[in-house]
Amino acid sequence: MTFDGPQAEIKASTVIRNIGQLVTVAQQPIAGASGPLQVIQDAALAIYKGTIVWVGTEDEGEPWFQQAATASKDGIKIIDAQGAVITPGFVDSHTHLVFAGDRAEEFHLRRAGVSYGELLAQGHGILTTMTATRKADTETLLTLARERLASMRQHGTTTVEIKTGYGLDMITEEACLRIINSLNAFEDTAITPLERMRIVPTFLGAHSIPPEYRDRRSEYVELVIEQMLPAFVGLARFCDVFCEREAFTEEESRRILTRAQELGYNLKLHADQLSPSGGARLAAELGATSADHLDHASDSDLDAMREAGVVATLLPGCSYTLRSPYPAARRFLDHGLHVALATDFNPGTSYCENMQMILGLAMSEMDMSLEEALTATTINGARALALQDQVGSVEVGKQCELALWSIKDYREIGYHFGTNLVQSALVER
Ligand code: NIG
Ligand code: FE
Repeated sequence: MTFDGPQAEIKASTVIRNIGQLVTVAQQPIAGASGPLQVIQDAALAIYKGTIVWVGTEDEGEPWFQQAATASKDGIKIIDAQGAVITPGFVDSHTHLVFAGDRAEEFHLRRAGVSYGELLAQGHGILTTMTATRKADTETLLTLARERLASMRQHGTTTVEIKTGYGLDMITEEACLRIINSLNAFEDTAITPLERMRIVPTFLGAHSIPPEYRDRRSEYVELVIEQMLPAFVGLARFCDVFCEREAFTEEESRRILTRAQELGYNLKLHADQLSPSGGARLAAELGATSADHLDHASDSDLDAMREAGVVATLLPGCSYTLRSPYPAARRFLDHGLHVALATDFNPGTSYCENMQMILGLAMSEMDMSLEEALTATTINGARALALQDQVGSVEVGKQCELALWSIKDYREIGYHFGTNLVQSALVER
C-alpha cells in the first residue's frame, strides 16, 4: 500500500515498528541518528518488496502506522520489534563452509606442539578434508552446509560468502559450486523467511596441490587455468587463491587470478597468512576486492592495498585456533584501509560459525572499538564482497537484512560474552 510519508508518498509492503535502538551503520547522514554508527532511538522502518524505503523515528512514522492499521486488509505486514535492538545482519565475507569430516585430531596434535604449517607439509590439513569431501555424496554435503548456515543465521548472519577448495578436481569442485549455488535460494519462494540467506559463491580450486599432482604441480595450475576457470564461469562470483609457501607461489597465483579476471571473476586472495607471500602486493596489483588474513603483510603492502581500494579482511578465529598472534587491526586502520572481519569458518583453522565471537575477539584481542568491530562485520564485510550498495547497513535503497538482538542497548555487544545475544535474523523479500 501507499503511505503519505513525512516528505512524500512512499509505497511499503512491511513496516517494522517499536525498535528500541536501530543501529543503522549508515554511510550517509540520517535524520534523527547519532554517533559513528548513526543510531536511532525508538525507531521504525518501512520496506517495499525487500528494499528499505524509509527509516526514521517511531514518532515520525506514527501517522503511517495508523493508516496501515486501518488498511491492513491490503496485506501490509506490521512487525512489532518489541523494543529490540536492531543492527544490519552480519556479512560473513570469508567461509569454507562446504566440506565433510572434521579435523579434531589435528587440533589436538597442534595443542601438543605440531604446527599448522608442518601438518600441511605432511599432507594433512586441507588434504584430509579434501579426502573426506571427495568421498561424501551431494546429499550429505548439502545437509551439512544447511546445518552450518542455520547456525550462522541464529547468530545474526544474513549474507555469507562460501568458497570451494576441498574438491581440488574438476568433478568435486563443480559439485561443491553447484551445492553453494543451490543454497542461494534467495529468489525461491519455497524458502521460508526463516531460512533465507544471501550466499556469494567463490571458486578456490587453488587451495592446495592435490596429492595426484604432487610431483607435477604446474599441471594442476594448468588444469585450474585451462579447464576449471572457464567451466565455472557463472557458478562463482569470485576466484580466490591460497598464496602461501605451503600452497601457491606469487607467480602461480598471478597467472590464475589474471585468467580469472579476464573471464569476469572478481578476485580475492588468502594473502600473507603464515609467512610473507607477496599476496597483499599481488591483490593491489590486480585490483582484488579483498585480501584476507594479512598477518605478515608489510607497511608498503598496506599502502598499495589502500591505493588500489582493496579491503583488508582479518580473521581472528584463526589466531584463536592456532594460538598465533592476532592481526594488528590498528595498523590496518591507521593505514586508512577498510577493515572487514569474518569467521573463515573451516574445519582446520577456524571452526566457528558465530560472528559475535569474531567481533568479541576483535574487541578483546585486536584493540578494536565496538563501533569499528560492528562496521567491520557489516558494511565492510559487504565491501569485501562488492555488495556495499545492497547490504551491510540499514539505509533507504538497501535490502532488508537485519539482526534482532535480545538486548536493550547495543553497547552490550562485546561486553556480555559467551552467549548468543541475537534473537533472530530478519530477511524480508
Ligand atoms: O583460511 N589458509 C587456507 N585456508 C583456510 C584453512 C583451510 C583448512 O585448514 O582446511 C584458512 O585458514
Ligand atoms: Fe580461509
